[in-house]
Amino acid sequence: MKMLITGGTVVNATGATPADVLIDGETIAAVVAPGSTLLGFDLAANVDTVVDASGKYVIPGGIDAHTHMEMPFGGTFASDTFATGTTAAAWGGTTTIVDFVVQYAGENPLAQYAAWHEKAAGNCAIDYGFHQILSDVQDSSLTAMDELVAEGVTSFKLFMAYKGVFLSDDGQIVKAMQKAADNGSLVMMHAENGSVIDLLVQQAVARGDTAPYFHGLTRPWQAEEEATHRAIMLANLTGAPLYVVHVSAKQAAEQIAQARDRGQNVFGETCPQYLYLSLEEHLGAPGFEGAKWVCSTPLRARAEHHQDHMWRSLRTNDLQIVSTDHCPFCMKGQKDMGVGDFSKIPNGIGGVEHRMDLIYQGVVTGEISLERWVELCCTTPARMFGMHGRKGVVAPGADADIVVYDPNGHTSIGLGKTHHMNMDYSAYEGFEIDGHVDTVISRGTVLVDDGEFRGRVGHGRYVKRELSQYLI
Ligand code: URP
Ligand code: ZN
Ligand code: ZN
Ligand code: ZN
Repeated sequence: MKMLITGGTVVNATGATPADVLIDGETIAAVVAPGSTLLGFDLAANVDTVVDASGKYVIPGGIDAHTHMEMPFGGTFASDTFATGTTAAAWGGTTTIVDFVVQYAGENPLAQYAAWHEKAAGNCAIDYGFHQILSDVQDSSLTAMDELVAEGVTSFKLFMAYKGVFLSDDGQIVKAMQKAADNGSLVMMHAENGSVIDLLVQQAVARGDTAPYFHGLTRPWQAEEEATHRAIMLANLTGAPLYVVHVSAKQAAEQIAQARDRGQNVFGETCPQYLYLSLEEHLGAPGFEGAKWVCSTPLRARAEHHQDHMWRSLRTNDLQIVSTDHCPFCMKGQKDMGVGDFSKIPNGIGGVEHRMDLIYQGVVTGEISLERWVELCCTTPARMFGMHGRKGVVAPGADADIVVYDPNGHTSIGLGKTHHMNMDYSAYEGFEIDGHVDTVISRGTVLVDDGEFRGRVGHGRYVKRELSQYLI
């Protein structure tokens, strides 16, 4: 089957130019000047489908490199399954996710990896890869890291917080980093000082400060900055490349910027929640409402200008990627486990459906360029996580993962409007978006068009990733 996308402006990280895109089967066959013929053939007359993209952007499908579908966490499971979460992702113009295999202390990493394949296989609407979470770093975990790299799991997430759940101590972190330095994989770090946080949480609850707002106050920016600095030093010591996930504090972003200035392979992502939402307005909402926005790292004070700093860091490439950290929980039956004690609220926010739209607003307001939007949401995630050439670019030979985005369209975000995630609220309720995801194509198959889902759970395939293609 051949498809031609005509009349649009093709936007890659490297530039935007009017062009037609020819898709042959699952891949992009050609990107040509508008109205071109190929060897004398009128393209439009010789394809099975023509998509009119006049006045619209033709961009690579989004890559969300940080999601947690059906993750067992906080005494429950993230409320999106691979089926519902990847379907919602498709609605929002994301055609690839990289999700996390979970290995809790005592579990076998390879057995967990096999279990995650079981959950995802046949249940995804879009393509998916895996990172692996390592909790206790056992000697067998180190050999497992080599085997996992061979399986296309080329990044490992470690935690400096959540003692007794995920936390690795500094010695365990160094062991895993030594292995990563040796086998070329990337260490992803949840950088918050867990011991300090546990103490502050205990003290707050004992004082009777139990509202969701105190989730933010007991995970202060100092705990994020300190852990980020420590992670950078341990990476420096071992020579491992480091990718700091869900950066929310400007001081943590500054630590990353300084390490990069020194020439170290240190990278960082932030998430839409840290660009748009705040401690005061959201975590501090009346009553128990703030539970909707309990996630870690926490939302930061707008008065301290963390959000502005995140945008600036995205402009200057001090941070390289926007992912969602999609980890949704419903208010009823999940978040409400923490009524009367914020420390029992499952940590996480859902947003996989809205990332492309939300970050496009940075183009509308002049925070970032059009090309930078594509770079942050599509191209760098592909390069960072070993999918360069196949994903994240509109170019011949790449998978035909393409979004037709209408800059003159409009999207209202909220429950019952554009929301297909399995959540009983929206973290972005009431956001009005300039722009609209019109058509979503994954490996040549139309998933979404004209406000209709035409995809299929089971279409998505496992992406066996290479080593990072972003290292200095
Ligand atoms: O609150 C969050 N971020 N939940 C998901 C787990 C993690 O730390 O990324
Ligand atoms: Zn984390
Ligand atoms: Zn996460
Ligand atoms: Zn539209």
